[in-house]
Amino acid sequence: MIVVSGGTGFIGSHTTVELMEAGYEVLVIDDLSNSRIEVLDGIAKITGRKPVFEQFDLCDKGRVMDCFKKYPGIEAIIHFAARKAVPESVDKPLMYYENNLLSLINLLGSMNAHGVKYFVFSSSCTVYGQPDTLPVTESSPIKKATSPYGNTKQIAEEIIQDVVSAGDPIEAILLRYFNPIGAHPTAHIGELPLGIPLNLVPFLTQTAIGIREELKVFGDDYNTPDGSAIRDYINVVDLSRAHVVAINRLLEGKNNSALETFNLGTGRGLSVLEIINTFKKATGVKVNYRVVSRREGDIEQVFADTTLANNELGWKAVIPLEETLRSAWKWEQNIRQQS
Ligand code: UD1
Repeated sequence: MIVVSGGTGFIGSHTTVELMEAGYEVLVIDDLSNSRIEVLDGIAKITGRKPVFEQFDLCDKGRVMDCFKKYPGIEAIIHFAARKAVPESVDKPLMYYENNLLSLINLLGSMNAHGVKYFVFSSSCTVYGQPDTLPVTESSPIKKATSPYGNTKQIAEEIIQDVVSAGDPIEAILLRYFNPIGAHPTAHIGELPLGIPLNLVPFLTQTAIGIREELKVFGDDYNTPDGSAIRDYINVVDLSRAHVVAINRLLEGKNNSALETFNLGTGRGLSVLEIINTFKKATGVKVNYRVVSRREGDIEQVFADTTLANNELGWKAVIPLEETLRSAWKWEQNIRQQS
């Protein structure tokens, strides 16, 4: 049995589907603080069954311990559950440190107590800040975090490193995501931002469907070919498949060391304006947009060197961008029909 914490969230739900389709039994743990219970129905529509589900807050140490006791068959954990809104983390740093770090500490402690060995952690390219050279490799320097959210990812990585170095029988893989976008091709699951979306693609699809008046492009005066900022946008299904590979690798003992780190991106940097134009090409829908000033805290550009993940994991992002944007659009249309 594989635990997916945050399994009703965006990346967690897609990873649950991929794990179930690969034959794994999945236990989703989620407190539903930023997701909906109906996501389990979406998963069941795709896979034919629901994962096992436990609803509680991972900051509650007693509940975490009880859960490990209840399911003695747990072999590995993929830990997604975390808060991830950068501005909110600036306003409420303690909430971020408490939620993102206590949950991690409780999971690692319970693993030790119950002899669970394998751990996959949901990290972010945010740990690199604005890299000095591009594309960014796993050995690029870690830059000082620009937000409490980013800091929780850096500290979490350090906690896992320390636990592994201490000789605890834990083996871990840190996965540093670039910008996950899109939705499952069936449109049964996807991204469900509560309130006004902060990320580019959900804002874009909400503008396309008419919920938002216009998409604001944050800056066209960056030192990039068209002046807008560049990111490495990766399809969430491609990203989820990398988690299945990571789990197989740990369970089969194919990891090279007790702690490995991989970048998960496409290796291709795309600007905000390129995303808007490709969306139009892929869906036929023209999105109303306006260039405004840069967003505070944004970096100019980042994209991944994926050589290590390609060679070591034997994994590669393969879904074309147009298909990814079409999936995000299909999902947006689907949820609006439901609501
Ligand atoms: C952000 C976080 C990152 C985090 C990720 C989680 C920052 C600096 N980074 O990534 O640490 O892991 O979210 O989801 O906040 N954009 C617009 N208009 C919009 C929204 C976005 O132009 O309405 C632009 C942004 O300026 C950026 C790009 O689109 O250049 C992507 O933005 P976004 O989707 O928010 O992701 P990041 O900022 O890269």
